[in-house]
Amino acid sequence: MVRTAPAQVPRRRVIDMCLQEKIVIITGAGRGIGEACARLCLSEGARVALISRTTQEVEAAARRLDPAGENTLALTGDVGDEQAVADLFNRVAERWSGLDGLVNCAAIFRQDEFSRMPLEHWNEVLRVNLTGTFLTCREAFRRLTTGGAIVNISSLSGVPGVEKFPGFAAYNVSKYGVLGLTEILAVEGQPRGIRVNCVSPGAVDTAMLKQAAPDLPPVMRPEEVAETVVFLLSGRAGAINGANIILSGSPRPRAGK
Ligand SMILES: NC(=O)c1ccc[n+]([C@@H]2O[C@H](COP(=O)([O-])OP(=O)(O)OC[C@H]3O[C@@H](n4cnc5c(N)ncnc54)[C@H](OP(=O)(O)O)[C@@H]3O)[C@@H](O)[C@H]2O)c1
Repeated sequence: MVRTAPAQVPRRRVIDMCLQEKIVIITGAGRGIGEACARLCLSEGARVALISRTTQEVEAAARRLDPAGENTLALTGDVGDEQAVADLFNRVAERWSGLDGLVNCAAIFRQDEFSRMPLEHWNEVLRVNLTGTFLTCREAFRRLTTGGAIVNISSLSGVPGVEKFPGFAAYNVSKYGVLGLTEILAVEGQPRGIRVNCVSPGAVDTAMLKQAAPDLPPVMRPEEVAETVVFLLSGRAGAINGANIILSGSPRPRAGK
């Protein structure tokens, strides 16, 4: 019997330069999931504005990803500040005309036993995580005049029915809010060709996880979250609007171990 060799199937990337020439703003891109999203957006052909509050960190991230600085813009600002958000979007418009996508990664947490939670902690977490997402989405809605895509990062903490961890009331509520905002913006964006979706990961191996839950083993890497985010930004997800993609992952060693 003559055995024939299996046909050589050319390797094909599932997502192939799917963001060519697109202009994408990513908040919270100085490290962690935001930086991983920026890296993948760039490798898929996008021009990316990276935003965080710490100038040194966000500029270092931009240099790592794009040493020549041709396709990145590193910007410092607070997403919870209305004027700052308008200024940030103006800076992007000065550098590149048009806007195609927004990824909301910026977030903070405070851990307080509920009866002792200072009002300032509650207000600060909601201001950054929820009001910040509102402000950037509103600015994007004003500028996505020919349609586009927004991806908000919520969390398993924001998904009803999933186990919650004590001390994170403000964070949990902020992430429920991000999910709710996504749902209504998907409805309002639909007639204008703006798709709005949400990604809700479990424990991701980042600085935030190490600080918030040092004993909780990560179940995914930031790069794995970025794959879903970039898919949702791309035309390949053109039929997906108002979805919440839950990323449950599976246990794995922390980076560097
Ligand atoms: N890591 C996890 O296990 C996990 C799980 C579920 C969901 N998430 C969500 O995933 C997203 C990214 O988390 P991560 O783990 O990558 O966190 P991270 O490592 O702490 O990074 C957060 C980023 O947001 C920026 N940021 C914070 N407050 C900001 C503000 N007011 N304005 C602008 N930028 C701000 C931070 O930089 P500056 O401090 O310099 O501003 C940093 O670049 C967050 O929405 C988080 O809630 C994370």
